[in-house]
Amino acid sequence: MKPSIYLETFGCQMNVADTERASSRLRASGYNLTDSMQSADVVILNTCSVRAKAERKVFSRIGEIRKERIGNEPLFGVAGCVAQLEGATIFDYAPVVDLVVGTRATDRLPDLIERVMSGEKKVIDIDERATGESWSVTATERRTSKIAFVPIIEGCNKFCSYCIVPFSRGRERSRLASEIVKEVLALREHGFLEVHLIGQNVNSYRPKDESGLNGISGMTPFSRLLRAVAATGMERIKFTTSFPRDFHADIVTALDENENLCNWVHLPVQSGSDSVLKAMRRGYSVADYLQRIEYVKNAKQRLSLTSDVIVGFPGESSEDFEGTLNLIKRCHFDGLYIFKYSKRSGTRASLLPENVDEKEKTERFLALETMQQGIQNHIYSSYLGSAVDVLVEDVSAKNPEDMMGHSTCHKVVNFKGANSLIGKIKKVLVTDVKANSLYGITV
Ligand code: 5AD
Ligand code: SF4
Repeated sequence: MKPSIYLETFGCQMNVADTERASSRLRASGYNLTDSMQSADVVILNTCSVRAKAERKVFSRIGEIRKERIGNEPLFGVAGCVAQLEGATIFDYAPVVDLVVGTRATDRLPDLIERVMSGEKKVIDIDERATGESWSVTATERRTSKIAFVPIIEGCNKFCSYCIVPFSRGRERSRLASEIVKEVLALREHGFLEVHLIGQNVNSYRPKDESGLNGISGMTPFSRLLRAVAATGMERIKFTTSFPRDFHADIVTALDENENLCNWVHLPVQSGSDSVLKAMRRGYSVADYLQRIEYVKNAKQRLSLTSDVIVGFPGESSEDFEGTLNLIKRCHFDGLYIFKYSKRSGTRASLLPENVDEKEKTERFLALETMQQGIQNHIYSSYLGSAVDVLVEDVSAKNPEDMMGHSTCHKVVNFKGANSLIGKIKKVLVTDVKANSLYGITV
């Protein structure tokens, strides 16, 4: 009998999508996938390396699992970004690991496990994706039965000076539009109600062959793809992450013209200081970013806007940080992910001297968080008394009496309701607001 496999995922949506593909390939090869870490023959951790803390987690998690499996240790595999970056050195850090699988080797996982099971030691594959590999995922391997992540572009060519992603995920490669549209149509047939088109920079989408975008012209390939996906009739379509430099007005026009393209844009700004943006090599200035925001604010319907910011980048002065506070005040984001700068070796920024100590980073983090909370309270309160369409995902983790889901504008919404509503779209009247969620009753 084939061994049973437990896959655990860390990090971003792309890792979730990779785990779903890995599961599809393994199941098709006759492996038994299990939710039980306690009983699995093989434990594979799909890892993230975007910040040092995430990277360290892999090794502490292996330690935790070993403790729980004393006397009955599984075979360990490390997949994803840490595997790609650290390669064979993982075998030295963690000698219990027998398998290292890079970010483009997912499809070869069944053969790699076969080799480990037949007694081969220290099996590693951090090679490129084979040409013509399929991106297909079996519907039953999806994380949920109603919301699917659909990768449209992988890798990154931007090389922002702080970021490890271009090293861990390689150069940008766009999938063919015809393949993406086919996948969304199949998901619709299966009863999925929402797709998230995902990629490090979705709006840098540029397929080698434009079949599938035929008949739509005069726009960037990404906004043409949005229109082609909207034409599938999928109920709700969201997309993350957008890169500011490649964010053009035609994206907003596509949202204006297609109701099933959801009213949410995630556009990471990273800093509100021109000199820091330059040192980050982001390729835009504060003024350029504000122009993109104008497109979003001038949309026909209100678009929800979220962003990412890094505090404590090398050289960030208190004036630079003031610039970030001013930008946040000005942009009025619906949500903001704040990160403390984390040095990643191999990146350009890792060579710069760090002038912001941990205490100062924390102070800047908290100052931003406090400002954002005030802005968010204001925005969230404006939803009181209005109704939002919620795709019900699960029972609320905080209160078993409540259900939770996301609105089209990607806000968390909780409400009183029965479990039978899971997987349905319900109209919820907002009656209360919390720090990061709306609360209401079904109407
Ligand atoms: N340190 C801190 N934050 C980082 N991010 C990416 N690299 C780093 C780093 N080295 C953040 C950026 C990005 C988000 C996904 O993670 O804000 O948009
Ligand atoms: Fe990293 Fe910049 Fe690429 Fe985003 S655009 S993945 S921050 S290098």
